Amino acid sequence: MIDKATVQKITDAADIVEVVSDYVHLIKRGRNYVGLCPFHNEKTPSFSVNSVRNFCYCFSCKKGGSPVNFIMEKEGLSYHDALLHLAAKYNIKVEEKELSEDERRQLNEREALLVANEWAASQMEKYLHDTEEGRTVGLQYFYQRGVTDEAIKKFRLGYNPDSGHALADAAKLAGMDRKSLVEVGVLGDSQKMAGSYYDRFRGRVIFPVLNPSGKVVALGGRDLKGGMAKYINSPESAIYKKSNELYGIYQAKNEIAKQDNCYLVEGYMDVIGMWQSGMENVVASSGTALTDGQIAMIHRFTNNITLIYDGDAAGIKASLRGIDMLLAHKMNVKVLLLPDGHDPDSFAREHTPEDFRKYVGEHATDIIRFKAQVLLNDIGTDPQKRVEAINSVVQSLAHIPDKVKRNVYVQECSRLLGVSEEVIEGAVEKSRIDVIEQQRRRRQTDEIDRLDSNELNPQPDVSKNLRPSNSGNITDKYPYYLLERTVIFQCVRYGMLEFCEVEYEDGSTDMINVAEYIAEELQSDDIWFSFPTFAKTFNRILDLKEDFIKEFEAFDSEIQIQRKEMLNKGYDEIASKVMNITEIKRAERILEDNIEEEIARKYYDFARYFIEHKLSSHHDDDVRRTVMDAINDEQPLSNIYMRNNPVSERKMEEDRMRVLVPRGVLEWKNEMLNQMIRAKMQQLNNIRGHSGPEEEQKILLETQALMAKRGQLGKEMGDRTIGKKIK
Ligand code: CTP
Ligand code: MN
Repeated sequence: MIDKATVQKITDAADIVEVVSDYVHLIKRGRNYVGLCPFHNEKTPSFSVNSVRNFCYCFSCKKGGSPVNFIMEKEGLSYHDALLHLAAKYNIKVEEKELSEDERRQLNEREALLVANEWAASQMEKYLHDTEEGRTVGLQYFYQRGVTDEAIKKFRLGYNPDSGHALADAAKLAGMDRKSLVEVGVLGDSQKMAGSYYDRFRGRVIFPVLNPSGKVVALGGRDLKGGMAKYINSPESAIYKKSNELYGIYQAKNEIAKQDNCYLVEGYMDVIGMWQSGMENVVASSGTALTDGQIAMIHRFTNNITLIYDGDAAGIKASLRGIDMLLAHKMNVKVLLLPDGHDPDSFAREHTPEDFRKYVGEHATDIIRFKAQVLLNDIGTDPQKRVEAINSVVQSLAHIPDKVKRNVYVQECSRLLGVSEEVIEGAVEKSRIDVIEQQRRRRQTDEIDRLDSNELNPQPDVSKNLRPSNSGNITDKYPYYLLERTVIFQCVRYGMLEFCEVEYEDGSTDMINVAEYIAEELQSDDIWFSFPTFAKTFNRILDLKEDFIKEFEAFDSEIQIQRKEMLNKGYDEIASKVMNITEIKRAERILEDNIEEEIARKYYDFARYFIEHKLSSHHDDDVRRTVMDAINDEQPLSNIYMRNNPVSERKMEEDRMRVLVPRGVLEWKNEMLNQMIRAKMQQLNNIRGHSGPEEEQKILLETQALMAKRGQLGKEMGDRTIGKKIK
């Protein structure tokens, strides 16, 4: 792990304009820069880079964030690796931090597995090239299948000798941790003789599977002797989840981005065949149906995917599987069928690269058109089948998020299927509602699952007592989710700004910031964020106060120096002009006012952007995402203010904050009271006639107390709105 200070150094050094410029041609527009979004295909720029606040954002596909986020997305790297990437760019030396026992164990475990795999892969490469058996058996096999030396090197192909213990022996000799080698499935642990290891991939040629950052996460071994298992693969482990990896992604990722398209094939050899034919933007799903994780990985580099299958019945069926998922991911999907009996590997061997590329160029068909055609061919005269076919196409169309695109397809499918546009459109829009609902539910369940599996700060959770929790809808489980969200967003934006003075019992006073104000407001009624991500983010914000004070001192002395310099410069200028004493006095007053205003804005900005500066690159996904969401959710002030009057802009924003922050908290409390009152009423209904009058009386009183409190709150809310005018 990278220590906190180094992380700070990296995130401080990483300039968003510089980082993005490595990928996007940026044009200055006003205070910001704009360019064509690198995450999706577009003709007019909607990608905006804010150099002052050091983040970027695509108004169209909503991707972006801090330099770290940008690199994570763009390079497909983990948080840690994105930091290393930036550190390299800015020549920052990275000291890996002392870890806690637990962190060390986890990291060591993963690290050990990666080391084991890397060692095995390079060992297999050596066997292929440097041993007699490797050359005559392994290399010979590759040559015979038309694999070039260049591809062998690029894909790090290898060979595991047939003796059964070559690798096991080498591991012992090299002092490798054999437990790890067993865990990644390179070695087997003999049942008969404990502590005796054998090579699981013996007598096979080896295809290492690399993740996007080039780490060997798995190996695939192909049999050469017509044995039972054509391929054996590494088992799933802490570093390998088959459904999340794509064979060839490391070698292909740059080319996928450059070509803005990704070819998806089935097998190892298909990737190599395509690559050798000059189509380097190719990956394989390794014989299984595409998963969400794999699509997301491709989506980091392009929106366009071309599925390549054998033109036989199985291939056609396979190509239709999972297209709804691809469409839902906003991918533009094409499909290409090779002549019956061919896979890309065999096709590449029988054609020149030029012919292959020409074939691909001419035969890729839009997936929806393809689906309609295939189903039509199937229908025959069966009316029932016809209805099924139409429904199935409608279902796919409903997964396309973009309405314009959907409508183009509606027209085309109407023609192909011989059904009126109105009918298809009606059916599509109807199913679209279900699809959106399904997706929303799935996302929320995902989020809840993710949260449930996290270790969270226990905080008083009032909501639990009010409504039964059931997964599915986020507001079922967290009834105040939206109200809490408003408050945490305000807190991210304004948390470090001064809010009000508080007086303690001993008469002393203190200035508290917005975050502290919110904390006190919540605590005074014994409530807290129930949504764990928000609770965590809020705690991180509260923790920042100490850093803020420390850094503010340094900032403050710097500003004092600046103020003096600005004043002196201004006085000199005034003195150099010919003016009478009244004019001089006035000029000096204007100068002083202007400088004070500028200084005030600097102070304001320091506090205003402190939280996003500190947390938009935070290592915790939840915190980072909440901060980015809050920033992206900001309603800009009207353009007129932005352009002409930075002073008023600040004042206006501050005024708005003074209204919105208390209102957010009050609305949350108000809703909680409403819920509690409703619950009491319910309770009253339930016990009526079943218990004594004392019990009823008690609940009635409690209800009245709650109602009185709500009235009080309502008055406060009203006062706040008036307070806006008083200022
Ligand atoms: N596969 C696998 N395990 C198997 C069979 C297949 O992991 N037992 C995966 C491999 O990634 C393989 C892909 O599915 O590359 C496609 O399988 P298949 O078409 O059977 O193999 P080919 O790639 O065509 O292999 P070859 O050309 O060497 O026969
Ligand atoms: Mn094949």
